[in-house]
Amino acid sequence: MKIGLDFGTSNTVVAYLENRTPAVMKFTYGGVVRDVFPSVSFYPHGEARGVHGLEALECAFRKPGTLIRSLKRSLRNYYPGLQIQEGEFKWEVKDLLVDFLKILRETIVSTQHLGSEELEALLTVPANANGAQRFVTRQAFREAGFTVLPRMIDEPTASAIEFSYSGLSDRLSVRGKPVYVLVYDLGGGTFDVSLVRIEPQRYTVIASAGIERLGGDDFDRCLYQMVIESRQLQALSPLQEKLLLHRCCEAKESLSNIIDPKYVRIDLEEARIGEGAVRLRVEDYYERILPLVNQTLLKLEEVLHSEAARAEGISSLAQIEKIYLVGGSSRLPLILRRVQEKYGQDKVHLSSLPFASIALGACHMAQEKIEVEQVLSRTFGVIRTCGGREYFDPIFEKGTKIPAVKRFEISPEHNIGHYRYLECVEHRDGQAISPRMWSEIFFPYDPDWDLSRLPQSADIEIKQYGSGGSKVIEEFSCDENGLITVNLIRQADSLSIKYEIWPQ
Ligand SMILES: Nc1ncnc2c1ncn2[C@@H]1O[C@H](COP(=O)(O)OP(=O)(O)OP(=O)(O)O)[C@@H](O)[C@H]1O
Ligand SMILES: [Mg+2]
Repeated sequence: MKIGLDFGTSNTVVAYLENRTPAVMKFTYGGVVRDVFPSVSFYPHGEARGVHGLEALECAFRKPGTLIRSLKRSLRNYYPGLQIQEGEFKWEVKDLLVDFLKILRETIVSTQHLGSEELEALLTVPANANGAQRFVTRQAFREAGFTVLPRMIDEPTASAIEFSYSGLSDRLSVRGKPVYVLVYDLGGGTFDVSLVRIEPQRYTVIASAGIERLGGDDFDRCLYQMVIESRQLQALSPLQEKLLLHRCCEAKESLSNIIDPKYVRIDLEEARIGEGAVRLRVEDYYERILPLVNQTLLKLEEVLHSEAARAEGISSLAQIEKIYLVGGSSRLPLILRRVQEKYGQDKVHLSSLPFASIALGACHMAQEKIEVEQVLSRTFGVIRTCGGREYFDPIFEKGTKIPAVKRFEISPEHNIGHYRYLECVEHRDGQAISPRMWSEIFFPYDPDWDLSRLPQSADIEIKQYGSGGSKVIEEFSCDENGLITVNLIRQADSLSIKYEIWPQ
């Protein structure tokens, strides 16, 4: 079975083909049916195994233990061995992820009665995901037993696919002209915005930007803070904190069920904090979160007026078919209100299934022959030393269309090549801003180096050659998923070593 899979900060959504149409998979636990598998794990104290998804949410309210939420947020800073700690408990992030995904897989296999049938997943990642996140996501799904389809796509790109299938594709073929959509994806933990050109069976990302740490979790946190302030609550236990956050999240979500709500109510008893409930004015809450919402609008502007958009001939909003709102947090009434105030009612379309748009788009991609062209969300480069000074030398700039290759020929002046690769969102005057370290590689430039042992950091005592050393070719390739390899070739004897560039 081929599925589209959106592993989200709050929820994991699976789409599969039902009667030849992508549909959202349902999950059941204890009589409750949901069309998401919550991205939540719970490790009861004193028990060897954790529980996941709906079962985890249910258990967390009645047993002592550790509740792991928003694990996806930890993937942004991923390096092998990264741990999260709570009290005396410590876990490796990757182990937690694999644990969760194994149960997700087992649940899909059993609800769909797949038996030994292969489960092939097309994965999605945030458009602004760095290389480490892409790498660990793919790796963890494989370790959990999924067959990972070679193509991974960015979450807003998947939504653009879903958008074109939700009625627009007819108009597309009639007009024969490309259509542009601006996907605004506000989920539980991340915000992404992408400008996508849609042609029949072909999607091209023109520009993309995002905010790594902005989503529904932050809106929950603001409401939580308001509750704390209104009751001057102090020293909550970790469990009370989590329960209160959960109640705040539910209260926030209830705002979209009522027309023009005036108050939001948070029950303290259910959070095991005290008696009664806190009642807050919705407008006060909206005022509190408005600066966050405005940040998303600034990013939207950045993409709409980017150089890439200009190069595509887009000079005004009139050329954009729709601003398409997806992601569960887009259902917060304030979001639609603010985006419509700024861009007009007709321009803005809230997806009918904002939480599932990405998985449905990914499912289309998994089944059909669809071409997707994306751009790199980070600048990837290397630290070079020159005249005793270190500087950042970009290799693939942010916005580069992928897949991409680059080739350099260098004349080394010493016996060992010491490469330190990294990526960053910005760089200035030869320096990377907030860099994220990737592989450190040592390559033997010296043809006399004993190859039974490749150079390591201890060999860093580098001998200068002066000039006249053997030439070295550096071939970089960034695949269509944004994963990078480098092939270093020593010309004198054609020694060639290929390195996958990993997070460290
Ligand atoms: N009706 C609603 N009103 C407001 N917020 C909502 C509503 N329904 C869901 N949300 C919020 O949407 C978020 C989850 O959305 P979604 O499932 O799209 O995110 P995700 O895919 O898990 O996260 P991300 O894409 O950031 O990794 C949660 O913060 C949830 O509280
Ligand atoms: Mg999402």
